[in-house]
Amino acid sequence: MRLVVIGATSAIAEHCCRLWAQRTACDMLLVARDASKAERVAQDLRVRSPASTVAVASLDFLDAAAIGRLAERAAASAPIDIVLIAHGSLPEQRMAEADLALCRSTVEVNAVSPALFAEAFAAQLARAGRGTLAIIGSVAGDRGRKANYIYGAAKGFIERYAEGLQHRFADSRVAIVLIKPGPTDTPMTATLKARGGRPASVEKVAQAIVRGIDAKRPLFYVPARWGPIMFVVRNLPRVVFNRLNI
Ligand SMILES: NC(=O)c1ccc[n+]([C@@H]2O[C@H](COP(=O)([O-])OP(=O)(O)OC[C@H]3O[C@@H](n4cnc5c(N)ncnc54)[C@H](OP(=O)(O)O)[C@@H]3O)[C@@H](O)[C@H]2O)c1
Repeated sequence: MRLVVIGATSAIAEHCCRLWAQRTACDMLLVARDASKAERVAQDLRVRSPASTVAVASLDFLDAAAIGRLAERAAASAPIDIVLIAHGSLPEQRMAEADLALCRSTVEVNAVSPALFAEAFAAQLARAGRGTLAIIGSVAGDRGRKANYIYGAAKGFIERYAEGLQHRFADSRVAIVLIKPGPTDTPMTATLKARGGRPASVEKVAQAIVRGIDAKRPLFYVPARWGPIMFVVRNLPRVVFNRLNI
């Protein structure tokens, strides 16, 4: 199985890679901004799955030309089965309100950069006529909330973007999968956990993600309970919603 994982140092992505490598020999390309951190993830995967081949690539996640070249190189030798786009960054909302540079980088890393990778790899999957492109969005993209609307707006963009890709590839063997996790126990939610929040286990979230990608589900929440919760959140009348401290 040929896999490309963008943002491979993410805890969620790393756990997905472990599951893939555990069940079959994989040919993996781990893509990250930090080569040495990605190499540590690669080393661990090689030990867990000696039959797998794990390579590492690093680049600037906003460099459109470099991203295009990476996708071409990755698809040159053989078709890619799965591309997982996993990177993201959740700053303190208040800090992103107060610091326009942080506001911009939050939108860039959570919206612009995933779109560049998705477009570059979609072109390669289109050329091969098959493959699955999975993107990690978030429940935060479902409705703008004062607690995280800068990050949330970028994740909302990901949902519209994935929807458009799904429309584009509807009559093909290219599958587009949008994953919407709720709070998950990774470095991203360290502050939430310190405040007493109880995020889902990253192992369980990764298992559900791998299952959803296997089934080529167009959109799913992990854990699944977030589906009905976000249905309610999306549909609350504004007059009620605006009174909530969320
Ligand atoms: N954890 C949650 O509660 C939760 C909930 C909903 C959605 N998500 C989404 O799930 C995905 C994975 O998150 P995670 O929880 O596994 O988080 P994580 O462990 O904190 O990983 C974040 C990843 O994003 C990368 N990244 C951050 N800023 C970057 C930048 N400017 N350029 C390039 N890469 C950058 C990090 O690279 P470095 O390792 O180099 O820092 C790391 O690979 C993200 O898209 C996140 O938004 C997470």
